[in-house]
Amino acid sequence: MAAISFINPKGGSGKTTLALVLAQEMSRRGGRVAVIDADPNAVIMKWKNDRAARGKNLPFHIEACTEESRIAKLAEELSEHHDFVFIDLEGTANRMSSRAMTRSHLVLIPMNPSSIDANLASKAVELVLEESDIIKRDIPYRLVRSRDAAAVESRTLKRIKAALAEHDIPCLQAGLVERAAYRDIFEFSATLDELKPSDTSNIEAARDNAAGVADEVISVLKDIGKGLS
Ligand SMILES: Nc1ncnc2c1ncn2[C@@H]1O[C@H](COP(=O)(O)OP(=O)(O)OP(=O)(O)O)[C@@H](O)[C@H]1O
Ligand SMILES: [Mg+2]
Repeated sequence: MAAISFINPKGGSGKTTLALVLAQEMSRRGGRVAVIDADPNAVIMKWKNDRAARGKNLPFHIEACTEESRIAKLAEELSEHHDFVFIDLEGTANRMSSRAMTRSHLVLIPMNPSSIDANLASKAVELVLEESDIIKRDIPYRLVRSRDAAAVESRTLKRIKAALAEHDIPCLQAGLVERAAYRDIFEFSATLDELKPSDTSNIEAARDNAAGVADEVISVLKDIGKGLS
């Protein structure tokens, strides 16, 4: 099992979207997945409740955690019976994020691909490093671009990649592409597989992209000794 936290104190950086997309993809591949919604805005809990209201089954376990005193124990308990425990956090640096990070094998830091956001993401990296320092254990982390342009690689994106490489900030090669499908999974409280081509364009491209990001996360987990057996 692997516990993965999604952090970035910058709101709207793509944490919840990436968490839900990866949860769906890992579960589609047969992984046992649990998601902890540790954001008081409870976007993933709403996804869960809307599905229940529409009579749709739940493809993986979802549980809310709003008390910071509970998060560590909950992550540990869920890790015993799941291959992946994804922890979606609020867009603020708070004690909940700190506690979640200390129980995580990997921290993913989604960021919008802009120079401003790249600078703000370095604040998120500092938070991970501070936490690592406190617990005297490296907490592996990776930046993940959360809204790449679907078309040709933009010049901004090239500059951001170069800056991250220069500062030696570990970043996934694959990023989540800006796709309507990633908004519509919330709109229709659906999985990517359940979206209808009549409602959403380029679903197939979104699925392929999600698979590519998931592949890379699995390979990072392998590298840090948390590969699936
Ligand atoms: N790859 C993507 N394609 C299209 N829309 C996206 C993508 N990633 C994120 N979004 C949209 O951007 C907005 C912010 O994304 P999201 O809610 O995932 O960010 P967040 O970091 O969880 O925000 P918060 O800090 O408020 O919790 C949402 O409207 C979401 O639908
Ligand atoms: Mg969120």
